[in-house]
Amino acid sequence: MNDRPAFYDFFAGIGMVRLGLEPEWRCLWANDIDSRKAEIYAANFGGDVFRLGDIADVRGRELPGHADMAWACFPCQDLSPAGPRLGMRGPRSRAFWEFIRILKELAAEGRRPPLVVIENVAALLRPESLAPVCEALVRLGLRPGALLIDARWFLPQSRPRAFVVAAEEGPLSAAAWARGLAADGPDPFSPWTPPRLLRAFEALPRRLREKWVWWRLPPPPERRPSLADLLELEEAPEDAPWHPPEETRRLLRMMAPSHRRRVREAQRAGRRTVGALYRRMRDGEQRAEIRMDGLAGCLRASRGGSSRLILMVIEGKQIRSRRLSAREAARLMGVPDGFRLPLRYADAYSALGDGVAVPVVRWLSRHLLLPLARAKEVAYARHVSP
Ligand SMILES: C[S@@+](CC[C@H](N)C(=O)[O-])C[C@H]1O[C@@H](n2cnc3c(N)ncnc32)[C@H](O)[C@@H]1O
Repeated sequence: MNDRPAFYDFFAGIGMVRLGLEPEWRCLWANDIDSRKAEIYAANFGGDVFRLGDIADVRGRELPGHADMAWACFPCQDLSPAGPRLGMRGPRSRAFWEFIRILKELAAEGRRPPLVVIENVAALLRPESLAPVCEALVRLGLRPGALLIDARWFLPQSRPRAFVVAAEEGPLSAAAWARGLAADGPDPFSPWTPPRLLRAFEALPRRLREKWVWWRLPPPPERRPSLADLLELEEAPEDAPWHPPEETRRLLRMMAPSHRRRVREAQRAGRRTVGALYRRMRDGEQRAEIRMDGLAGCLRASRGGSSRLILMVIEGKQIRSRRLSAREAARLMGVPDGFRLPLRYADAYSALGDGVAVPVVRWLSRHLLLPLARAKEVAYARHVSP
C-alpha cells in the first residue's frame, strides 16, 4: 500500500486530520506539543510517527521521506474573535512561522511537499492574516487559494473554518486547471466561496491575487445526520447524566425572553425537540442561549472558563437538560465510535473542540486533494519525460 500519497501532519492533536485522510493517504510524521493529546493519538494510531514537542525544536532534516502534502491546523487563539486578535504576529501564531521555516528547510533539500493545506478559524480570512499567509506560501513556490467550509453541511454543528490549499507552481498547478480542479474565477454557485471569501481575496495585494487559485470543490452531500441522530436520548450516558430539575429551571431563567419563547413554542408543538445551548456573557449578565434549528453551536475547547455545550430536550411539559457526553461530542466532530477517547471528560472535550471536523477533511481530500496528488504524478511524469 506504499503507493498511497503521503502527508506530514503538523499540529496533529489527536489525529482528526488523519482520520479524515486515511485510508487513501498514509501519515509519515505527526507533531504536537500536548502530551495528553499525544496519548490519545498513540492509543488510536500507535506512537510510531508521532513526535511530541514544540514545533520550534523540529528541524526539516528529521522529517522522513518525501511527502506529497503537509497539513497544518495551527493554533487559532491569536486569530479567534474570542481572543485578543493579535493575528499572525501574536505569540500563538509563532507556530505558523515555525511551520514555514520547516517547509523552507525541506525546500533546501528538494523535499518541500508540492501540496500544503492550512486550516484555521474563519478569521484567518481577515486581510491582515490572509495576506502574510499567502505571501509565505508564494515565496515557497506555491499558489494558494482558500475555501470557507462550514461543517454544518456534513454534521449538525455550525463550524465555519478556512482552508487554504496551496499547490506547487508549474506542472502541478497547470494539471489542476487541466483537470477542472481549479479555475480563473470563483464559482458563483459554490457554497465554499461565500462573499466573505471574495472580499478577502479582493483585499489581497495584486501580486498575491495573481497567484491565487480558485479551487473547485463539489457541493456538499444532500443528507447529513440530525442532532438527535447523534445523541443518546433514552438513557443519559454515564458521563452526562440529566441535570437535577432545579438546574434545568436555572438555565431557563437565564434565557432572554426570545429564547424562552423558543422553548415554549417547542413545548406547544408536542413532539420531542432537542435544543443546543451555550452560556454566554451578554452586557455583564450570564445568559443561556438556545438554538433549535437542529444544529449545535461550534464545539470548542473550554479554556479560560468558556462554557461547554448543553443539550435541552423538550417533550411537551417535560424539559430535561444535560451536558454532551464525550462520545456525543466526538460524533459531533464526525469521529467514528471506534475511536478511543480518554477517561477524563475534560481531556476528551478539549481535544475534540480543538479539532477539525472529520467529514470535511474527507470531502476535501476525495474531491480535491487526492485528485491533485494524482495529477501531480501525471504532471511530473510529463515534466521529466523528453
Ligand atoms: C487547532 S489544534 C489542531 C488539532 C488537530 N488537528 C486535531 O485533529 O486534533 C492546534 C494544535 O496545535 C498544538 N500546538 C500548539 N502550539 C504548538 C507548538 N508550539 N508546537 C507544536 N504543537 C503546538 C496544540 O496542542 C493543538 O493540538
